[in-house]
Amino acid sequence: MTTRTTGAVAADASPVRTSDECRLRAESVCLGYGERLIVDGLDLEVMPGAVTTVIGPNGCGKSTVLRALGRLLPCRRGSVFLDGKAIDSVPTRDVAKVLGILPQSPVAPEGLTVGDLVARGRHPHQAWYRQWSSDDERAVADALAWVGLTDLAERPVDELSGGQRQRAWLSMALAQETDLMLLDEPTTFLDLAHQVDVLELVRRLQSEAGRTVVMVLHDLNLAARYADHLVAMKDGAIHAAGSAHEVITPEMLDEVFGLRARVIEDPETGTPMVVPSAGPSKRAPEPVAQD
Ligand SMILES: Nc1ncnc2c1ncn2[C@@H]1O[C@H](COP(=O)(O)OP(=O)(O)O)[C@@H](O)[C@H]1O
Ligand SMILES: [Mg+2]
Repeated sequence: MTTRTTGAVAADASPVRTSDECRLRAESVCLGYGERLIVDGLDLEVMPGAVTTVIGPNGCGKSTVLRALGRLLPCRRGSVFLDGKAIDSVPTRDVAKVLGILPQSPVAPEGLTVGDLVARGRHPHQAWYRQWSSDDERAVADALAWVGLTDLAERPVDELSGGQRQRAWLSMALAQETDLMLLDEPTTFLDLAHQVDVLELVRRLQSEAGRTVVMVLHDLNLAARYADHLVAMKDGAIHAAGSAHEVITPEMLDEVFGLRARVIEDPETGTPMVVPSAGPSKRAPEPVAQD
C-alpha cells in the first residue's frame, strides 16, 4: 500500500477526530540544517491519548520531525501547533509543562546521579517564588518507581549499564509529568527483554495515565505491537500512515526500507510481523563479478 496521507488517519478502533481536538499538529512544515532541506511540507496530527509511532530507514528525518514537534528545531516554513497555538509563540517553560522530550542518545553531565537527573525533569515546574516542593519530591519518587530505578537513585548516571541509563532518561521525562511525551528511540541500547519492559511502560502511561506519546522505533515488530497509529517515513516525507495492519505491508517494506519480506500474523498479539526474505536485501551491494 502506498497511501500518501496527512498522517491524520485514526487507528481502527479510534473515532475520527477533527484537527481542533488534536493537541499537537504539524502543518506544511519544512525543516533543514544549514543549506540542506530535510523535510519539505510535512503534515502530521498527533492523536490525543494514543501512541503514535514513527518508523523509517536511518537518516529519513524521524528525529528531525520529532525535534520540530518538541520545538527544539524551528520550522523554515509551516508551523507546529500545540493546543491550537503556533508552538514558537508559546514560552519555553509553558511548552515544557505540557510536552516532555527524550532525545536520541542523550548525554548526562559527568558524575550526575540518577536522582539528580530525574529531578531535572521538575525544572519547568519551579520558579523563583516556588522552590523544591513535596510535589516535586513525589513526582521524582514516582518517576523512579515507574522505571524500577528507586534503588539506584544515588548512583552516577555514567556508571549505569546502557539499559539502566536509558531508563534513567525516561524517568526524567516522566518526572516532568507532561500529558505529551516525545520519545526518540527509547529502546536503543536495550536487550529485547528491556525493550519490551520500556514499551509496556509506554503502553501503561497511555492506558493508565492517559498520556499522549509520539515515539520513534527501529524494531518494526515492536512498533506494530505498541502503536495505535503508525507513521512510515521515507526521504523526509510520510509514505504511509494508519493502523499497523494498514502500514506494515510487503509493498511498504520494499518501497520504504528496500526490504524483501513477508508479513505474517504475530502469534502473540495478532499484529503484523515482518519476516525478511532469505538472502540480501535490495539495498545490499551487488556481489563483485568473478572472472
Ligand atoms: N544537527 C544536524 N546537522 C546537520 N545535518 C543533520 C543534523 N541532524 C540530522 N542531520 C541530517 O538530517 C537527515 C535526517 O536525520 P535524522 O532526522 O536524524 O534521521 P533519522 O532520525 O530518521 O535517522 C540526515 O541526513 C542527517 O544526516
Ligand atoms: Mg533518529
